[in-house]
Amino acid sequence: MARRDSHFVCQECGHSALAWTGRCPGCGEWNTLVEAMRRESRSGRRGGREPARAGAPPRPVALRDVQAPAVDRLLAGIAELDRVLGGGLVPGSLVLLGGSPGIGKSTLTGMALGNLVGGGRSVLYISGEESAAQVRLRAERLGEHALAVPALAETSVEAILATLEAERPDVCVIDSIQTLHSADMTGAPGSVGQVREAAGAIMEVAKRLDIAVILVGHVTKDGTVAGPRVLEHLVDCVLLFEGERERSFRTLRALKNRFGATSEVGVFEMKQGGLVEVVDPSARFVGEARPAPGSVVLCAMEGTRPLLVEVQALVAPTEIVPPRRTATGVDRNRLALVLAVLTRHAGISLAAADVFVNVAGGVRIDEPGADLAIAMAVASAHSGRALETDGKPLACFGEIGLTGEIRYVSHADRRVAEARKFGLGKVLGPPGGDQAIPGLAPVSSVKAAVSGGRRTDLKRVA
Ligand code: TYD
Ligand code: MG
Repeated sequence: MARRDSHFVCQECGHSALAWTGRCPGCGEWNTLVEAMRRESRSGRRGGREPARAGAPPRPVALRDVQAPAVDRLLAGIAELDRVLGGGLVPGSLVLLGGSPGIGKSTLTGMALGNLVGGGRSVLYISGEESAAQVRLRAERLGEHALAVPALAETSVEAILATLEAERPDVCVIDSIQTLHSADMTGAPGSVGQVREAAGAIMEVAKRLDIAVILVGHVTKDGTVAGPRVLEHLVDCVLLFEGERERSFRTLRALKNRFGATSEVGVFEMKQGGLVEVVDPSARFVGEARPAPGSVVLCAMEGTRPLLVEVQALVAPTEIVPPRRTATGVDRNRLALVLAVLTRHAGISLAAADVFVNVAGGVRIDEPGADLAIAMAVASAHSGRALETDGKPLACFGEIGLTGEIRYVSHADRRVAEARKFGLGKVLGPPGGDQAIPGLAPVSSVKAAVSGGRRTDLKRVA
């Protein structure tokens, strides 16, 4: 017989308490505890400590003696997705795919399942958001195999578990975790208790039956996957699908991956027939870049892959106090730091100007190597002078320190090589490294970069 017990779960951090308090003891947020009912766990694993077993305690084994069978990965047939996953889906693993509404999560998973069916795998698509007819309408746009995917419109956790037991597919997509509800829990679908209970129950079945499960999740305004953070700890892999809905480019990155690196990024473009992988993103992002005041090319690294993007800045006089600072595609705090360094160490005063910085194409760059490009774009916008080398926009990369120095960042050689591939002959970057990199014009300070970034000076440096 199941025993029901009541407890209180924080909607912010997932902390569970036996009594209600105004302030969560776990994260300190106010008014976040919500009552939840829980049956003593199905498997007994989450229902508290098990009684000590009779007999000898289990013996640990040296890792070299642990049997680790080589597993065949399940290839989704979408190269960018497989790469971000670390070489395909691991059987029996749990993947959380987060993204804001309309970004293309259902499209991506629908395409992946279609490819898996085409490759002879058994799959299942469970939709809690759309009817089977709506899922079909989307699949019609995604090619022949997508229509062969078995689909089920269901939101009851118990029904889904029973279906998984009966069907035992290789891969199952649940779209989305926030729509599921378990009869064992009070609370609306999407509440912390429900999401955690549903994910925990699905994980238990998936591991036991060796089903790879992709849980689709929504993200909140601040960019974290909605639901308790415990969900991120529970799953093997957290993928985030980002981009601006109005633009066609999308990036897929791993925030956590137990079976691969988290630095990989996949780039997609949303087209009429679904998501198309962008094999050469640099060409797409800087293809249209022309030398103009406020425009520079940043040689960024996205995981193991160099990526060229155009960083644009606009500096406009304003009477507003404090003036506006807007960053799209780069971190606001990095922009604030770069502006402070420009003011303090390069003599560029921006106190009476609005500053806008934007990465063209709607991509987001999350690495310190973007600092110098932001500084150069702002300085160029401020002076109204275009930065160019041989008729092409200036390319640069490097981290900026608080004393105005340009600091070394990883993979300098690969960044420069990518720029050269696109005919950007000279690249402004940090000095240092073991050997001179052909095409790299080293600068040691922001001041030197800003005053010497013109064509003539670059020629002299090289
Ligand atoms: P969808 O996958 O439903 O987004 P999510 O599941 O993340 O909410 O698709 C989002 C958008 O993509 C939708 O507005 C329509 C568009 N779209 C295309 O442009 N081409 C296509 O082939 C498909 C299937 C969708
Ligand atoms: Mg969807």
